[in-house]
Amino acid sequence: MEKEKLEAVKQWSHDPCGAVHAGNYPEGSAEFFAAARRYRYEVYAPWLKKLLEDLDVRGKKVLEIGCGMGNDLLTLALNGAEVTGIDLVPKHITLARCLFDIYGYSARIMEMDAELLSFPPESYDLVYSFGVLHHTPHIEKAVAEIYSVLKPGGTAVIGLYHKNSWHFRVNLLFYEGLIKGKLFRMNVGELLSTGVEFSRSGAKPLVRVYSAAECRHLLRGFSRLRTRRYHWQNTQLPFLGRLPPFFLPGFLGWYIFCFAEKKGECNNN
Ligand SMILES: C[S@@+](CC[C@H](N)C(=O)[O-])C[C@H]1O[C@@H](n2cnc3c(N)ncnc32)[C@H](O)[C@@H]1O
Repeated sequence: MEKEKLEAVKQWSHDPCGAVHAGNYPEGSAEFFAAARRYRYEVYAPWLKKLLEDLDVRGKKVLEIGCGMGNDLLTLALNGAEVTGIDLVPKHITLARCLFDIYGYSARIMEMDAELLSFPPESYDLVYSFGVLHHTPHIEKAVAEIYSVLKPGGTAVIGLYHKNSWHFRVNLLFYEGLIKGKLFRMNVGELLSTGVEFSRSGAKPLVRVYSAAECRHLLRGFSRLRTRRYHWQNTQLPFLGRLPPFFLPGFLGWYIFCFAEKKGECNNN
């Protein structure tokens, strides 16, 4: 396995994504998942719950790439989708399966690399991936795989870290990089790798950021592409940050979502 992927496995085997917000409940327990889900959809990203609700998934075959501990995968199942989840990290697969067992829902959940999907071409109506593809070294390969497994006219929903965000430009580059001087000791890639993901293991996962123009280039083979940015909060600002958390308009948000369609017989542009 390439070193970036080994770092990803180290990162999320030690610190499963979202576990730090699941209280002190035993990992994999019903209370653990309930706390993690409450934090995710009610505190951290209420906009994500709405985004998932707005996807038209009822009765559809949905694949999630990088499902982590399975929170969004379960939400998609609760919203009526027939779901499949894949992730690179075995620990995440175990947790996601526990989550589905606890909620009594069924899903196909498999250890797999986003860059090498083993599904037949044209097998999914929708492919969803949030916070994943900016960690994989060959993102173009992963996008080509998504295109292949989508049915003609199917939808890709891909959320990445946003380059033109307040968090990246001001908090990371300006404050951490220049004011605190980290950029005199490391490059931007290392700043991102050490400053974005919560890590107790010292893992240095690959972390990249994307502008809207880069997203358009990445998804140039798709049609009807639109991007939308989310997650700009007062807590990211110096003075307003002292107030209780609230969201600002998303344009400088930390996440950029791409919504795009695989060209079908009737939408070739
Ligand atoms: C920040 S976590 C996000 C997990 C989940 N989507 C969420 O929002 O909670 C990043 C995820 O990407 C997965 N990942 C990274 N590279 C991958 C790859 N090449 N193939 C599949 N999953 C990958 C990691 O295992 C991890 O679960």
